[in-house]
Amino acid sequence: MSIEYADRLKQLPPYLFEEIDRAKNKAIEEGRPVIDLGVGDPDRPTPDFIIRKLHEASLDPSTHKYALNRGLGALREEMAGWYRSRFKVELDPDTEVLPLLGSKEGIAHVPLAFINPGDELLVPDPGYPPYNSGAVFAGGRVRFMPLVEENGFLPDLDAIDEDVARRCKLMHLNYPNNPTGAVCDKAFYEKVVAFAKKYDIIVCSDAAYTEISFDGFNPPSFLEVEGAKDVGIEFHSLSKTFNMTGWRVGLAVGNARVLNGLARVKSNIDSGIFTAVQIASIEALKHAEKVKKESVKIYTERRDVLVDGLNEAGWKVPRPKATFYVWAPVFGGYDSISLAKAILEKADIIVTPGRGFGKSGEGYVRMALTVGPEKLEEAVGRIRKVFFC
Ligand SMILES: Cc1ncc(COP(=O)(O)O)c(C=O)c1O
Repeated sequence: MSIEYADRLKQLPPYLFEEIDRAKNKAIEEGRPVIDLGVGDPDRPTPDFIIRKLHEASLDPSTHKYALNRGLGALREEMAGWYRSRFKVELDPDTEVLPLLGSKEGIAHVPLAFINPGDELLVPDPGYPPYNSGAVFAGGRVRFMPLVEENGFLPDLDAIDEDVARRCKLMHLNYPNNPTGAVCDKAFYEKVVAFAKKYDIIVCSDAAYTEISFDGFNPPSFLEVEGAKDVGIEFHSLSKTFNMTGWRVGLAVGNARVLNGLARVKSNIDSGIFTAVQIASIEALKHAEKVKKESVKIYTERRDVLVDGLNEAGWKVPRPKATFYVWAPVFGGYDSISLAKAILEKADIIVTPGRGFGKSGEGYVRMALTVGPEKLEEAVGRIRKVFFC
């Protein structure tokens, strides 16, 4: 029997990291002292008080049943309360808040509710891969918005062709940004709202990293801007803020009609978040401020160790204002893939080639601050020795 993959799988971008993966597995197998700056997954555990709440809630058999698809009312209220206290944004917990099985799930599913085959979408390049794959699965045509250093890694909305803009139905945005570490201000979001209104484009703002920011900078929510709720939604996540990547809890908030479309897709695909996890998530959100403070302190130290160390060694890398990523320009005639390979082979350090996030990611590698300061110092020392001595 011949088993054929559907066209939508064939349309996904090629996997570019085979050679690097091979080198990485080989290094690990050989027992080399690999330092992994490749993955955007916090190394620290979920705080104890959240785990204790999960344990307590899981002992109650009523949590063992199928969860309500739109989530517990108490969770939606807590999520709305967090948006109120953090961003001064008012949300109706019944219609303007939708819990997700992690924000990735919502990001990938939202085009299914609004994109017909052949419809066009605007997607940042470089960008988090599910913006593109979700669009492809819905039969959409992706128009990439290049994020380049000259524009502070913001899309140049004025450069988008009028005809293209008219044909586009949905736009993904992500600030603070993965992979570039760039941030935006409210003035940028105001431009986005005006653009979206002019061309009838649904805006999907991905705000997964607003709680990891430095030097007193407090990243805004898209929904803080007047009119934003008329044109779009925002995705958020408990993953990075609370070191809960494996728990799968995210949220979409904002325009009720957009959320309703997403909820209808989801009700045909999943059956909600484990109720005990929802109860633990309520507890997490209640202590968001405290957890954030500790986390920011830890990532600030790590950022400074890596950025100061690399700059002193001779690799000029910028200091991000948010996210736990350092977006470093390549040097020495390498491109992003060959530099990542060289760093792995010669220094036993894993970094992610920018090309993997899209064409405009070429020329950079991404380093995640997901190891402690001693390992980051060690990484800096090895890079200095191999490439800058
Ligand atoms: C920009 C961005 N958005 C969303 C996510 C997904 O987070 P989760 O599905 O864990 O909520 C990630 C994870 O790496 C990310 O980098």
